[in-house]
Amino acid sequence: MKVISELKETNSFVRKLRADGKKVGFVPTMGALHQGHISLIEASKNENDYTICSIYVNPTQFNNKEDFETYPNLFAQDKAKLEEAGCDVIFTPSHESMYPNGVDNLLSFDFGSLTSVLEGKYRPGHFSGVGIVVSKLLNIVMPDVAYFGQKDLQQFMVIRKLVSDLSIMTEVKSCPTLREPDGLAMSSRNLRLNEEERNIAPLLYRVLKEAKTALIEGNDVGNVQKKAFDSIAANALFTPEYIEVVDFNSFSLIKNGKINNSVAICLSAHLGKARLIDNVIVEV
Ligand code: PAJ
Repeated sequence: MKVISELKETNSFVRKLRADGKKVGFVPTMGALHQGHISLIEASKNENDYTICSIYVNPTQFNNKEDFETYPNLFAQDKAKLEEAGCDVIFTPSHESMYPNGVDNLLSFDFGSLTSVLEGKYRPGHFSGVGIVVSKLLNIVMPDVAYFGQKDLQQFMVIRKLVSDLSIMTEVKSCPTLREPDGLAMSSRNLRLNEEERNIAPLLYRVLKEAKTALIEGNDVGNVQKKAFDSIAANALFTPEYIEVVDFNSFSLIKNGKINNSVAICLSAHLGKARLIDNVIVEV
């Protein structure tokens, strides 16, 4: 497995592969890798000749300085996991090469109504930063296919729009959320939970599953949403931020009535030092 940090070297490496007729898959990450990330590597390996994984903690997508500064750096461990998974290249750019003119006065992205809700509402500027870094990474790596997790569903919607609106010639794919045996969605931020918090954390997925069943049974969206929010808030360790039902295609909020199209139920909650997000899709 190669580790490359230079942008041009990465770009010419992939150009050569593609000129030789090889299909290249790409998995962008911020490191602190878990099995969820590795499942994306596996998806890429199944469908491509070469798999590249980037590890880059992107400063422009953090709206909370402390979250950025305390983001775990576990490179040695990550490298071993990627090696074992059969990844071919790790791309680890420096901040200086990604943002040679600093991070002030950068262009910004406006994804319109897609980012006026959920994560976009609670993390101002976050998706513009994601848009910038993913554009950069796709321009540098120029992969045939890039893989993202359903865990960050709104992020996937944003990237899908980015790639479509800018005619970026990479196919983007979404892969299922990997969970711990007790249902907690795998996340690098789970490392911040203490034992008590970790034990209660699976409540989020239980609440999502109950809400999903209630929607399938034809209950009113507003009632289901309120019950779910209250079930999380009833536990003193949690501070729920939002739980929303969105149309799966447009990502617009649904506030009441029975569902008649596929929807996603998305939530965010603070638990100790971690801010956790999760979602389930309800197919109709
Ligand atoms: P990061 O949080 O490291 O996640 C990298 C990829 O792994 C994302 O596509 C994310 O959705 C996926 N992922 C995370 N947890 C998962 C799980 N439990 N199951 C399946 N996939 C999971 O998302 C980012 O990094 C960044 O925003 C990035 C896209 C790299 C841009 O900086």
